Amino acid sequence: MSKASPEHSKFSRTLVTAALPYANGPLHLGHLAGAYLPADIYVRYLRLKGEDVVFICGSDEHGVAVTISAEKEHVSPQQIVDRYHAINKASFEKFGMSFDNYSRTTLPVHHQTGQEFFLELYRQDILVEKSEKQLYCEKDRMFLADRYVEGTCPVCGNSDARGDQCENCGTWLEQTQLINPKCKICGTTPVVRETKHWYLPLGRFQKELEDYVNSKKWKENVRGYVDSWLKEGLDDRAITRDLHWGIPVPLQGYENKVIYVWFEAVLGYISSTKELSQKRGDPSLWKKYWQDEATRYIAFIGKDNIVFHTLIFPAILMAWNKGGKSRYILPDAVPANEFLNFEGKKFSKSRGWGIDLQDFIDIFPPDTLRYALALNLPESRDSDFYWKDFQARVNNELADTLGNFVNRTLQFIQRYYEGKVPPRGELNALDKWAVSQMEETPGRVAGQFENFKFRDGVVDAMSLARAANKYFNDSEPWKTRKDNPEQCATTVNICAQLTRSLAVILSPVIPFAAEEIWKMLRLEGTAAQSGWNTAAEMKVESGTEIGHLNILFTKIEDSTIEEQIKKTASGESAEQPAATQATAPIKAQISIDDFRKVDLRVAKVINCEKVPKSEKLLRIEVQVGEDKRQIVAGISKHYKPEDLIGKSVIIVANLAPAKLMGLESNGMLLAASTDDGKLAVLTTASDIDSGSIIR
Ligand code: 2FM
Ligand code: ZN
Repeated sequence: MSKASPEHSKFSRTLVTAALPYANGPLHLGHLAGAYLPADIYVRYLRLKGEDVVFICGSDEHGVAVTISAEKEHVSPQQIVDRYHAINKASFEKFGMSFDNYSRTTLPVHHQTGQEFFLELYRQDILVEKSEKQLYCEKDRMFLADRYVEGTCPVCGNSDARGDQCENCGTWLEQTQLINPKCKICGTTPVVRETKHWYLPLGRFQKELEDYVNSKKWKENVRGYVDSWLKEGLDDRAITRDLHWGIPVPLQGYENKVIYVWFEAVLGYISSTKELSQKRGDPSLWKKYWQDEATRYIAFIGKDNIVFHTLIFPAILMAWNKGGKSRYILPDAVPANEFLNFEGKKFSKSRGWGIDLQDFIDIFPPDTLRYALALNLPESRDSDFYWKDFQARVNNELADTLGNFVNRTLQFIQRYYEGKVPPRGELNALDKWAVSQMEETPGRVAGQFENFKFRDGVVDAMSLARAANKYFNDSEPWKTRKDNPEQCATTVNICAQLTRSLAVILSPVIPFAAEEIWKMLRLEGTAAQSGWNTAAEMKVESGTEIGHLNILFTKIEDSTIEEQIKKTASGESAEQPAATQATAPIKAQISIDDFRKVDLRVAKVINCEKVPKSEKLLRIEVQVGEDKRQIVAGISKHYKPEDLIGKSVIIVANLAPAKLMGLESNGMLLAASTDDGKLAVLTTASDIDSGSIIR
């Protein structure tokens, strides 16, 4: 039923990892949208398919991101990571991220793994020791590793690029490449000094990496970045640092140095899986996921992590594999998302722009965010979270579409069938249509999820809820109950089947609501254990006694959203706008049937004049095919009457008539407008006949 790709079927299990977030601050919505939500939807879907899957994550607790936070707060790095590991782990749990293990890179199992990899590459003579120039702050008397130095990116010109990476264009930098570098601690310009480090000679892996990348069908955005780095050519990269916080370099003469955070953080996925093995009392379990060609490995990340997961991590694993001790598998797919912006600007902790997960969950239930974000994932380009859009998704889609259907179905059963699902009789054409929707949707959604198109998958899943509502409406059970009870029972039975089906296919996205539905239907087990393919089947037995009914989703009041918008605005300080101009939020989704209700026509303006005593209004006479009508439009600040006469404009022809300054208006003229007051009436070529339909 689901269209699993042929490649997919050569694997017998799946390893899924999600980027290990730095334990140096709270997670916000952007993190969820970048990597964790898509990963969780994917894993939940695979589990529903009955696949062997393990979902790995944890805190990235080393690196300069952590030591800088510690210095700012005058506490130890350990205190920082203890605090944020706990906060972030709890936030993930509250939002239903179903990791099989959430580890920490400060654990002994990880330190051992990091050192083991380092030593294995050293033993194989792959690593190169070099004395090279690095930036040194004479005032703070230290080498400025990674984030301790900031400057302008030589690739994209971003002035906030850090010593090891430009977050804006994703380039992995050597700090000496930075233009106009400044010490992050004291702001002075550092000097250049020699220091000894171990280097990973990436150039040696260039050909192998190219072959590897070429053998994969990666998302276009990911492939674009990777190709440009490969084209530029790969160089030696230092994998040790002059720092104290991190995994000590296990070599003599390196007592004051640690392994570069990005060399070891990616290995955190392996140590987290090892920790899981220990917890499960099966010490070699992790090998099944990491060292067996029958495992497919999918690494979910945000776009700033692409280079590390598509080139560096594979190179480390390739290097290990050359030693012949054992063979690690490489990522089969790296479905990286772009960034999510917040109300038109980049999330920024320092500038108070955005909302953290821990604050969000205090106000709104987790499924509401999961759903709204899923439909707004930055899968191929940056996207935006807007409060108004969030409210519309919750109110119009979760409450009015899904919640309404489930509620009316279950209430009907409660009220007219003593709480027991009635039996089906013979199916009429409408019943068959509804059943066919139920049979086809799971396969369609599966195809989208398997191709990492989570937005489309959720749209498809939700279209079943729309179809279900339409089926309920068109079947009119409130009428057939009196004049055709057998038909009524059939309708209600099918609605119960649709309810179950919706719980199954939406459970990867809104797992809490799915279980709520499951309980209300008093079905056995859980929605998560139901089996994906059963969503296409009529599994609800007639006679099933339903449970207590609860409201699935409560609508969000305007005042609640206004309050959030106000908070957003007050949290803001002077901020640069995000690269793209803020666009008004896209309204809640409508179905094609909703759209078809709007009758758009070409209309020719035959006469036009200002409405006396009005600053804004023009009275426009238009020809629409055979028909002549009058439209009153508030565009006189933008158009003189003579500008419009003779033009072919677009109108909404079936809008209910309205009176404006005593004049009847029959229809509405379409125009594009911006918040700063520009307006342009939509016109079409004048050789299109008036009355033509726009579709
Ligand atoms: O960007 C980040 O938050 C990094 N801590 C991600 C690391 S992913 C992997 F290497 F662990
Ligand atoms: Zn850059």
